[in-house]
Amino acid sequence: MLKTSYLKIAGTLLGLLIVTFSAVGQITPPQSKVSQENIKIDALIKQMTLNEKIGQLSLFTSDWDVTGPSLNDNYKKMIKEGKAGSIFNAYTVDYVRELQRIAMEQSRLKIPLLFGYDVIHGHRTIFPIPLGQACSWDMAAIEQVERIAAVEATAEGINWTFAPMVDIARDPRWGRVAEGAGEDTWLGCKIAAARVKGFQGKDLAANNTMLACAKHFAAYGAPQAGRDYNTVDISQLSLYEWYLPPYKACLDAGIGSVMTSFNEIAGVPSTSNKWLLTDLLRKDWHFKGFVVTDYGSINELLAHGVAGSIKDAAQLSLNAGVDMDMQGSAYLNSLDSLLKEKKITMIRIDEAVRVVLEAKMKLGLFDDPYRYCNKARQEKEIMTPEAIAFARKMVSESCVLLKNPNHILPVPATVRSIAIIGPLGDSKKDMLGNWSAAGNWEKCVTLVEGIRSKVKDNVVIYYEKGCNTNDEDRSGFDAALKIVAKADFVILALGENGWMSGEASSRSHIDLPGVQNELAEAIVKTGKPVAVALFNGRPLAITKLNSLPVAILETWFGGTQAGTGIADVLFGDVNPSGKLTMTFPRNEGQVPVFYNAKNTGRPYRASEPDAKYVSRYLDCSNDPLFPFGYGLSYTTFSYFNLTTAVAGNKITVTVQIGNTGSRDGEEVVQLYVQDNVGSITRPVKELKGFQKVMIKKGETKTLTFNLTLDDLAFYHPDLKKFWEPGEFTAFVGTNSAETISNSFRIR
Ligand code: NOJ
Repeated sequence: MLKTSYLKIAGTLLGLLIVTFSAVGQITPPQSKVSQENIKIDALIKQMTLNEKIGQLSLFTSDWDVTGPSLNDNYKKMIKEGKAGSIFNAYTVDYVRELQRIAMEQSRLKIPLLFGYDVIHGHRTIFPIPLGQACSWDMAAIEQVERIAAVEATAEGINWTFAPMVDIARDPRWGRVAEGAGEDTWLGCKIAAARVKGFQGKDLAANNTMLACAKHFAAYGAPQAGRDYNTVDISQLSLYEWYLPPYKACLDAGIGSVMTSFNEIAGVPSTSNKWLLTDLLRKDWHFKGFVVTDYGSINELLAHGVAGSIKDAAQLSLNAGVDMDMQGSAYLNSLDSLLKEKKITMIRIDEAVRVVLEAKMKLGLFDDPYRYCNKARQEKEIMTPEAIAFARKMVSESCVLLKNPNHILPVPATVRSIAIIGPLGDSKKDMLGNWSAAGNWEKCVTLVEGIRSKVKDNVVIYYEKGCNTNDEDRSGFDAALKIVAKADFVILALGENGWMSGEASSRSHIDLPGVQNELAEAIVKTGKPVAVALFNGRPLAITKLNSLPVAILETWFGGTQAGTGIADVLFGDVNPSGKLTMTFPRNEGQVPVFYNAKNTGRPYRASEPDAKYVSRYLDCSNDPLFPFGYGLSYTTFSYFNLTTAVAGNKITVTVQIGNTGSRDGEEVVQLYVQDNVGSITRPVKELKGFQKVMIKKGETKTLTFNLTLDDLAFYHPDLKKFWEPGEFTAFVGTNSAETISNSFRIR
């Protein structure tokens, strides 16, 4: 019925309408299809009342019952009245179908609902937190994670994810570093693109792809003092150079929606920032999708102090370029009177409605509003053996070996008994980490379970918690020490609990919380070999732990298959190859500490450690505990013969890497470049390439990196981006601090 009526109107209007098209998704449909879609949307907008238009600009959350998501009657009524165009936090086929049915059968214009959800690191199969995944430096795997996430989420009715979060962050106190890719802009762009491709696939209209949402636009990752939601105050140059590129990378990958951030930039909150949302996003970057606010952030303009009333706030936001209001009801309650008062225009409302309808059309919802409500898919495509196996692989790829004195790891084959100790050793709930969508903690494999299933009856496994994550209770130490006495080998499972990172989870002290350091010290005193598995959602300042003669494996929060994937690394079935994408500081006083810093006019030099008037601390080294790009292997690699050559527009860097240890291993070979003299100061080095390669023991590989002059370009004070001729240094190495180098000249 609906389709027929659209087509009729479309037929009449054909030829009369000037058609403008905004594509959502990567694939541009043939022109005729584009025109047809535009005609349908034009026709639909013409039929809509103002209230129905405002409804399309309003997004509301589902509630939660003990049994799962539920919608209160008021929202159901709003769907019927066309006042709610999209719903989030609603999933499972029956439930989504029921809500969609209200829209399709009881609302006047029968416009299908969009269903959004925070599918951040998996939907049902939960993968490692995004910061952990980033440490795999495996773009194909990261894309595959999102492909699986999209298949599972769409099998449960969801068609829009509030991901990827692409906020660059240099401050580990900020809890949301867990959701991002780390501190580096270049790598952040690659990861952003991989995630968008994974979610949106090749065809947004397929029933197992979903609309992605780049968030949080912009620079949410730079809050002062690492405190969530706090003020951001950065220079235009830093904004362009470091913070904006990953959002742009999402656009280049065809992303269909963008979410505004809670913070302000230079005195203007993002949700009312016309320069950001219209001049930059729409005009300069040609974004054609829709802009949604973060949760209630139009209303927050009052607390920011830029609006005196919700109505003022709605006016500012709509005029700035916000299309959809998440949960605030600000549009719903104010746009009507704002229009009457001529403070906003119908043209702007229609623009916003159009981009929302276009997204729904690209998803195929107008063809079949129930296309994501397929019971058979829900039963077949969720937590498949393939997805579980991939999650396990992703856990082991995300692990970063931070320290391994005397080859403590992998656990020797001679070990007959292991004491696993620590608050994170057998805690299923913590394994999911934050933002775990519809992940079920009961399905998570803990470290104790993962190790037991690996060693079967060959090794005796004891477990004691020892202490809690975050209190002063030492009463479990004795029991822990008792099992240590019986064991050949100790594995400590220490860290943060799953909720100490993520939104609203900033910390001012980022060492191991509670009495975990004391527990570790007491156990190390026994002289038994100790390996630590660290669970955390941010870089930790683990200087104390690091001073002990223990092996340390960073495991993040691995999700559903945490225990099995970590066990694969601990027992040497997988040789670790993860590399940090965020610097680990020695202490909080060093923060922010990141690899691509500036030299300053008075740089510290290791050759003159006591020099006074240089940029350094009196009480702490400038070097971090573990630098960006850092991660050990069970084998060793040596780098030599770095050559550089420039021919025309091309720069070629070649290097040889030998596996000098006793095992085959993968290495993430990293290329950094420094622009030695620029018209403005340049970082001491910047990541410009990497290759993840398997090198067999005893083997040497020659790798070639190809750069172009554009790779050397940077933003100038007039915000133009171009390269400058001169002398450059190429660094290649196993991390950002341990490199070999060679120079090249661009004329
Ligand atoms: C607030 C968070 O900042 C955002 O990332 C998330 O997508 C929304 N809430 C919706 O849950």
